[in-house]
Amino acid sequence: MTKSKGLILGSLMSMAMGLFGHNALAQEAANTTALSNPKVLVAYYSWSGNTKEVANAIHKQVGGDLFEIQTEEAYPTDYDETTAQAKKEINEGFRPKLKGSVDNMAQYDVVFIGSPNWWGTIAPAVSSFIESYDLNGKTVIPFITHGGGGEQNTIRDMTAQCKGCNVKSDGWVGYGSRTFGVSGWLEDMGFPEK
Ligand SMILES: Cc1cc2nc3c(=O)[nH]c(=O)nc-3n(C[C@H](O)[C@H](O)[C@H](O)COP(=O)(O)O)c2cc1C
Repeated sequence: MTKSKGLILGSLMSMAMGLFGHNALAQEAANTTALSNPKVLVAYYSWSGNTKEVANAIHKQVGGDLFEIQTEEAYPTDYDETTAQAKKEINEGFRPKLKGSVDNMAQYDVVFIGSPNWWGTIAPAVSSFIESYDLNGKTVIPFITHGGGGEQNTIRDMTAQCKGCNVKSDGWVGYGSRTFGVSGWLEDMGFPEK
């Protein structure tokens, strides 16, 4: 830019500040930031660590707060015992009690919710989480990890359980702890790499 063009632009800008006032311009900037910078929570349950890895990859790109959903009573460490217990709980619609809670859920616009696929659906702890808060009106972005079965009924069931939420149907569905592709998926969801 030439010096004279810079001077003209500078004076136009100060005229605009004079016309609209600093407050109006600052307010406009704040509104734009609120829309393009939603307050984000990344919440996840993970029994063997895969969903946790995906949660960390999401959190790294989108920022915001990270919350691990944990049950008051831990599941067994043995795989067969856990699958047997999970099968029974899912069949009975059991909701385990959770340890800890999210501070001021009302502040979040977007909540990423992560779950392993357990018997074709979301883990009971994730159902407990969804039903513990008022998520009405929030955008919920599911992320699911699985052991070969894929999405099955996970996102469908999360959507049914999350009353009044805007649950995105094109959540992340990945095998195990795979994070390759998460960044591009996030970009498609409106969270490009910064
Ligand atoms: C109780 C239980 C039930 C599972 N059921 C399924 C299933 O129905 N379909 C599937 O693809 N994987 C199933 N898996 C495998 C997990 O979905 C997969 O390993 C997942 O990535 C584990 O996530 P995590 O490490 O965050 O717990 C099951 C695992 C467990 C422990």
